[in-house]
Amino acid sequence: MQRVNGKVVIVTGGASGIGEADVRLLAEQGARVILADVEEEKGRAVAQRTGNAEFVRHDVSSEADWEDLIARVVARYGRLDGLVNNAGIIRVGDPCTITLDALRAMMTVNLEGTVLGCKHAIPAMIDSGGGSIVNIASIGAVSGLYFYGGYCASKGAVASYTRSVAAYCAVNKLGIRCNTVLPGGVDTPLVSGLEAEMAAQMPGMRIPPSAPVQPDAPQMRSAVPEDIANAVVYLISDESSFMSGGEIRIDNCASIIAAVVE
Ligand SMILES: NC(=O)c1ccc[n+]([C@@H]2O[C@H](COP(=O)([O-])OP(=O)(O)OC[C@H]3O[C@@H](n4cnc5c(N)ncnc54)[C@H](O)[C@@H]3O)[C@@H](O)[C@H]2O)c1
Repeated sequence: MQRVNGKVVIVTGGASGIGEADVRLLAEQGARVILADVEEEKGRAVAQRTGNAEFVRHDVSSEADWEDLIARVVARYGRLDGLVNNAGIIRVGDPCTITLDALRAMMTVNLEGTVLGCKHAIPAMIDSGGGSIVNIASIGAVSGLYFYGGYCASKGAVASYTRSVAAYCAVNKLGIRCNTVLPGGVDTPLVSGLEAEMAAQMPGMRIPPSAPVQPDAPQMRSAVPEDIANAVVYLISDESSFMSGGEIRIDNCASIIAAVVE
């Protein structure tokens, strides 16, 4: 059985990491996937490897890019059933070293990208008779990871905005669901240089034993992208038809046992 058979789904940031796994698993389960990313070479390669996927160059922070992307998808496939707002960036910085430039960059991609995605996908989903939006936040949305507090703020805003979108769609009976996925540490290029960056920018900073960047912390193996993509397939599929405004936290307990384990 293919779990998202025939659904037309956009995945932003689909050229790497979690987004790449989303693209692959959704396509394997029968979706027609539009992989949108600023990374042209990598994006095209992923689409080619995957099959049943096409690449579109797209910057989530550009409203004009969103208008073009949605118009193109509707013109080509006649519908839009799913959107995964996955593209994201991270910049380190604790409350005393955070810079406005870094904060604004994260807010622009992580929050504004998600807001614009919802804004432009919803009308196309209404015309398609409904749909499912999945916003990728982070356990940073619910924990005090102060070494990248600006990132946590941007992801907290994504989780909060998701609830507004879900409520709007429900009250107006649009048949559109909107949910958040909150991954813990996932082994992807996003986090590969973080420790070195933190050491350079915040020398001597104390990192709690729970920090997902510490590979030997209890129960803290990094997730693999597929751990997250499996939840994305579920949320895009009709299996989750009674779930909207919700959150799936995927961190193998990191955010609940962290503070008490040495
Ligand atoms: N890796 C983790 O530990 C982790 C944990 C929690 C949440 N997340 C979130 O998961 C999502 C995917 O992260 P990942 O780890 O796979 O990262 P990644 O760096 O491997 O992939 C992110 C992708 O987003 C694309 N991108 C960046 N800015 C863009 C823009 N303006 N427009 C379009 N595409 C853009 C990049 O080109 C890249 O292909 C992000 O939202 C991230 O914040 C990651």
